[in-house]
Amino acid sequence: MKETGYQPIEWLDNKVKLLDQTRLPREEVYLELGDYREVAAAIKEMRIRGAPAIGVAGAYGIALGALKIEDTSRDNFMRELKDITQTLAATRPTARNLFMAIERMQQAAEARGDTAQMKKALVNEAARIHSEEIEATGKLARFGAGLIKDGTTVLTHCNTGPLATTGYGTAIGVIRQAKEQGKQIKVLADETRPLLQGARLTAWELKQAGIPFTLITDSMAGYFLNRGKIDCVIIGADRIAANGDTANKIGSYGLAVLAMENGVPFYVAAPVSTIDLSLACGDEIPIEERNPDEVTHLQGASTAPEGTVAANPAFDVTPHYYITAIITEKGIIKEPYIERMRGIV
Ligand code: MRU
Repeated sequence: MKETGYQPIEWLDNKVKLLDQTRLPREEVYLELGDYREVAAAIKEMRIRGAPAIGVAGAYGIALGALKIEDTSRDNFMRELKDITQTLAATRPTARNLFMAIERMQQAAEARGDTAQMKKALVNEAARIHSEEIEATGKLARFGAGLIKDGTTVLTHCNTGPLATTGYGTAIGVIRQAKEQGKQIKVLADETRPLLQGARLTAWELKQAGIPFTLITDSMAGYFLNRGKIDCVIIGADRIAANGDTANKIGSYGLAVLAMENGVPFYVAAPVSTIDLSLACGDEIPIEERNPDEVTHLQGASTAPEGTVAANPAFDVTPHYYITAIITEKGIIKEPYIERMRGIV
């Protein structure tokens, strides 16, 4: 599997280094953050984004916060750690990977006897979460590539590459792997309003990977699907409920309906860390509401009259019956999801 020339996130012993995704594709700027509150702000401001990458950043943020705790009483340490995890948990509510990481970090600390051991365990656990996410997308990309025939044109939404996963990528990982297997693959990338992750980040990553792509506006997807120009749709996921209902970037649900209407397979690619078996169905998935300014403004410039009321749900939920298959690192899951997900997770 080919490496990329960029590193979305790195642990530097007492700092977290990350590539500021809000400044791409214009400039490649790395930030070095020494305080967990800065990491929380970077997640909230989407300097690092994409569910798996949010989970990794959250874990390193907790490790960073823990290293600065001076109190050596176990109880006080756990109390301070709770404040740190609460700050990180309040950043992006939909990404399951963030909460998976927080749960694992809490367990890692609880299992140790003294605060020095706890700090060491937290740093190690964050590194483990990072390497597991990298491994997971590498594996799921190989499973997913088996579904992609030579000569396929794929429609994808938002950004799901190394930037979003710290690893190989979910939907983009499947596309990269199919290309590395020698298949001719073309991509149609939705620009992904309002924050343009498709135009800014997917286009940047596909260009670097040498994968031919055409950028379209979100509202062009139906046109291309209806004209038979798309062979399959592949998206990532922020949270998948026990019945397969999938929350992903706003606009994913519309693509799923359009894909079914036009007889085109619709795949979700996600690591198992994105699956949340505690939620029975998609109605229970918390949906992040972001600042309406992201809709009324484009990169700082207003695009609507002052005072315009705008809505900004960041994700929508695609019901499981629109999803042809869910591609994970443990294999490909199809209906009935409710039974097969429990078996695989
Ligand atoms: O708001 P974002 O940019 O964090 O949303 C990202 C997505 O919706 C991705 O599709 C999802 O996190 C899966 S990425 C592997």
